[in-house]
Order: sequence, then structure tokens, then C-alpha cells
Amino acid sequence: MICLGIESTAHSFGVGVVNEQCEILANEITMYSPKEGGIHPREAANHHADKGPGILKLAMEKAGISKKEIDIIAFAQGPGLGPCLRTGATMARTLSLNLKKPIVGVNHCVAHLEIGRGLFKCQDPVLLYVSGGNTQVIAFANGKYRVFGETLDIGIGNMLDKFGRVMGMPFPAGPTIEKMAREGNRFIEFPYSVKGMDIAFSGILTAALAKRGKHDIADISHSLQETTFAMLVEVTERAMAHLGASEVLLGGGVAQNKRLQEMVTIMAEERDARMFVPPGSLCTDNGAMIAWTGLLMNKAGVALEISETQVDQRYRTDDVDVVWR
Ligand code: ATP
Ligand code: FE2
Repeated sequence: MICLGIESTAHSFGVGVVNEQCEILANEITMYSPKEGGIHPREAANHHADKGPGILKLAMEKAGISKKEIDIIAFAQGPGLGPCLRTGATMARTLSLNLKKPIVGVNHCVAHLEIGRGLFKCQDPVLLYVSGGNTQVIAFANGKYRVFGETLDIGIGNMLDKFGRVMGMPFPAGPTIEKMAREGNRFIEFPYSVKGMDIAFSGILTAALAKRGKHDIADISHSLQETTFAMLVEVTERAMAHLGASEVLLGGGVAQNKRLQEMVTIMAEERDARMFVPPGSLCTDNGAMIAWTGLLMNKAGVALEISETQVDQRYRTDDVDVVWR
């Protein structure tokens, strides 16, 4: 069985092709980057509509299969930006109708977790999902993927990018901040904002920006990372303790950060737990994770009528009926 998956929740448009063994036959991606400021949803959607067909063609070439060999079409149904989601959904509907293949709508956050399970054959990991728009700790409990903790305001990547924009770093700023942080050694105290199982980043962003010109940018970057990553690790560890979990998985663009990986590794080792990080191309938004999750869902009998394929910008992780586990 081969599934083609389309990802278009935000600024990336991706097409992935996977088989039943979770082999990634293709995983092509194109990213819209705004000339200045944040993502403009309509412009990002126009970019996806423009570049989408080329990415689809490239993915088919990479996979070395013909369209007739595709058994399932999957697309990211939400959460995300409406215009971007609709562009991907439209391509998915067209393919499904043309090829007469079933169509499956996938929850983007759940896909970040399922690709890790597929790649590493781990059973029941707690996912620390850290990207631009999302920051959540997700795990399976009582038949659903539950959000054990999440950001109360902006995603951590978004916070890093906003900090970087003011500091004159190129977009996305995460990798530059990581590099700068390595040069920093003086720790500056910032507000540590964990509320129960939830976290907040806007206070620390304001505090970090207020240090501009007063401290070395390397020291600010270092302290920003140390503080926010400690917050993430604390909440993740508490979720693991609560569940008695022995596996932790990273996902999302920020999961590529080596210092974050190191901190999660230390926490996991102290708990005798195993820790997994997918390669970068499967951490950031990608079509392969949508394809893999769609394949699991369809094997469990999930398929949508075209009339049920409308996107859901606020599709909650715990709204998904996890019939495949
Ligand atoms: P989503 O739609 O799931 O919220 P996204 O559109 O933000 O995802 P991703 O590619 O998952 O896309 O994540 C991008 C984010 O990852 C950016 O905010 C970027 O700064 C951040 N990032 C990338 N590399 C690093 C790094 N090495 N360290 C920290 N942050 C990073
Ligand atoms: Fe994502």
C-alpha cells in the first residue's frame, strides 16, 4: 500500500510518499518566506497554489512510481491557516477524484507523533512538539491523543523568530539563535513561566528584547534558550511521570536544536527512558508524516466523503478518533 500525503498548514507546502513499512519514498517541500514581517496567509496560499503542482511532480519522480500506484490520498485537515489548508485540501480532492482513491484528513499535530512511532518503532512516546506555531506535550491516554501541556500564548519558534527579527537575524531565527547561544556564557535571569502544565513565552520575549543593547546578544540568546528549554523539559518530564512513560519523542522545527535535544536526553537518561529525534526533514512540517498517518488511518477503515473534507483551522489534537491504535 502506498499513500501520498499533502502538508499545507502554514508556510510550507509538502508532498510525501510512504509505503506500509514507513519507508519514505519521497518527501518534497517548498517554503514561502515573507519578504518582511510574519506570514501573510493569503500570500502563503498563493505560493502553495503556484508551487504545489511542481512539488507533486517532483515527489512522484523521486518516488519512482506512477499515479496509478497510489492507493490513498491524505492531506492535513488542520490545525493551521485557513487559506493554506484549503489549497492543500483542493489538491487532495482533485487527486482523489481523478485517481478514484480514498481520501483521508489528518490532524497535523498527531502526524508529528505518528511519524516518530513509525520511524523508530517506539510504542507509546510522549511527544514534545515544538514548532513555530505550536508548542504542545502530547501523549496517548484513554483512546485519544491528549494535550498534557501547551503554550498559553505563542509557539516557541514564533517567540524565537520574533526575538530574531528585532535583533536583525534572518528568518527563521532559530538556527542563528542556537549558534549565538553557543558563544554565550553569562546567564541572565528571565521570567520562568510554567503554570501548572502550561507555559507562556510572551513575558520572556519582552524581557529578552529589553536587554537589547545592554547585554551581549550571545548571552541573551544563551539565557533565552536555557530558560525556555528548561520550561519545556519540566512539563514534558511531568507528563512522563504522570503516565509512567518510558519513551520521549521530539517533533517540530525547534526539535532540531542540539541544546534542546541534549537537555531532553539528560532528562530521559535520569528517568531510564528512551529518547528519539527524527531527522530534520521529518521534524519540520512535511508531507511524509501526513502520508504515514493517513496510511495508518485508512488501514483502520477511515475514509472521507468529499463533502466531509472541509478543513478545520482549530482542529484539536484530542478531537481525533484514534481508531488505528
Ligand atoms: P507548525 O505549522 O507546525 O507550527 P512551522 O510552520 O512553524 O510549523 P516548522 O518547520 O515545524 O514550521 O518550524 C519552524 C520553526 O523552527 C521556526 O520558528 C524556526 O525558527 C525554528 N527552528 C528551526 N531550526 C531551529 C533550531 N536549530 N533551533 C531553534 N529553533 C529552530
Ligand atoms: Fe508542524
